[in-house]
Amino acid sequence: MIRMRELNGYESLLSRIQEKRARIAVLGQGYIGLPLALLLCEAGYHVVGFDINVELIENLTKGRTKFSEPGVEDLIKKCLLSGRYFPESKAEEALKNKDVYIVAVQTPIKPNSKPDLRYLLSALNLILPWIKERYLPVLLVIESTIPPKTMEEIILPLLEREGFFVGEDIFLAYCPERAMPGRLLRELMEADRIIGVIDESSGKLAASLYSSFTRGSVRITHARTAELVKLVENSYRDLNIAFANAIALICEALGVDVNEVRALANLHPRVNILRPGIGVGGSCLTKDPYFLLSSVSNNNVNLSLIWAARKLNEKLPKHAARIITNAIKSRGKSPEESLIAILGITYKGNVRDYRNSPVLELIHELKDEGFRITVYDPLVEEMPEELGEICNSLEEAVRGVDCVVVGAEHPMFLRMDLDEVRALCRENPIFFDGKHVFERKSVEKSGFEYLSVGCPTNVIEILKEIVEHHIYEP
Ligand SMILES: NC(=O)c1ccc[n+]([C@@H]2O[C@H](COP(=O)([O-])OP(=O)(O)OC[C@H]3O[C@@H](n4cnc5c(N)ncnc54)[C@H](O)[C@@H]3O)[C@@H](O)[C@H]2O)c1
Repeated sequence: MIRMRELNGYESLLSRIQEKRARIAVLGQGYIGLPLALLLCEAGYHVVGFDINVELIENLTKGRTKFSEPGVEDLIKKCLLSGRYFPESKAEEALKNKDVYIVAVQTPIKPNSKPDLRYLLSALNLILPWIKERYLPVLLVIESTIPPKTMEEIILPLLEREGFFVGEDIFLAYCPERAMPGRLLRELMEADRIIGVIDESSGKLAASLYSSFTRGSVRITHARTAELVKLVENSYRDLNIAFANAIALICEALGVDVNEVRALANLHPRVNILRPGIGVGGSCLTKDPYFLLSSVSNNNVNLSLIWAARKLNEKLPKHAARIITNAIKSRGKSPEESLIAILGITYKGNVRDYRNSPVLELIHELKDEGFRITVYDPLVEEMPEELGEICNSLEEAVRGVDCVVVGAEHPMFLRMDLDEVRALCRENPIFFDGKHVFERKSVEKSGFEYLSVGCPTNVIEILKEIVEHHIYEP
């Protein structure tokens, strides 16, 4: 490629970044790209938030977004007023004449659990013609989660095939995002960052950009290490949840209450068993272990531990549905004549994101059994109608039901008056605590039968008091 390289291109790009003169395009204005674009705007940059979803961009230009994260809607309005944030759905308007491109598009898994990089590659293909036209060096940052070696074996060769010299006229960095929905803005600002690069100059440029808005430390490492770190973090969590779920299944088989086992085992100074539940959800934990597994599939490494953890967590919604079904059938009731209320469909409490939530699968399993379902989630604005009868209040959802299922631990559910809920239900109702956030005794005191993963009905007990009261003090 014939390209006029600017003398001292690196220095001039660095000074544009340091002096906030760099013009930035963030591709993907979803959960990650939007807050990131807003924080860069707040830091003083001129930022275009580009997304191929026209409706999303139209809403953003009016200051609105469908996913509500604390502080994000106010920040959108502030950034629009600043005249430095421009939501845009037309590629040319968005991508022309930029110094920095940040790619934050989705990177899901395919039905065969292998990474699906087509959104990432299509975003890159949209950017490259504009970089060629620019004749000035640019910084290209990948924020989307990618499998190990993607930077070296997919992105770098793609850029080289297009005639770019990485580290000279295009600087390339991987900055994995590790923030959590519900706390996105805070974590994006405060968490320590990892920057993965193949050459040193790219690392310095990206570090300079990220230091302009994060209060955490910024650490530069090799791209492959950064790719791995991001996946290791989520796989670690998935594995630990799977361990808790495995213990819960053992407890069921032995007639022991997993909550009591956890409470007592966690008294050990080096043990910290997480809460079991109805499975793992969200966009990251459900796929990152598969990205990790895909990275060394031909290397003769036995990865059955990570695989087994993922598979166990995936089975939990079905398992939970079986517990509920058996309990209702054991009372001589058929699913068709029974009504179940699902409280909360998001994958965790206090978030609006229900992508890959295990609650959705639990609902599908229960519906397949023949149950009628009411659904209430005060945090989700638009719920898929096929889930069941969508309700607008707790009272509406629990009225006349045989079973109340807590799917997500939203604060309003944690505060609900169990006596009042019980009074609205049918005779002898079941309370299925999908998140292990209620105390069995207080649920039973309100007249429910308490059920959860790892909490069998025939649990062995020696004392009638709760675990904390079992302390023997000589
Ligand atoms: N959501 C999280 O909590 C989280 C946390 C850490 C990392 N990540 C990673 O960040 C990345 C983005 O995730 P997300 O949750 O923000 O996804 P998202 O689905 O909320 O947003 C992605 C956006 O990219 C847009 N898009 C797709 N192709 C595009 C293109 N060619 N050009 C411009 N826009 C395009 C989509 O329309 C969508 O709005 C993923 O790789 C994800 O794994 C997400």
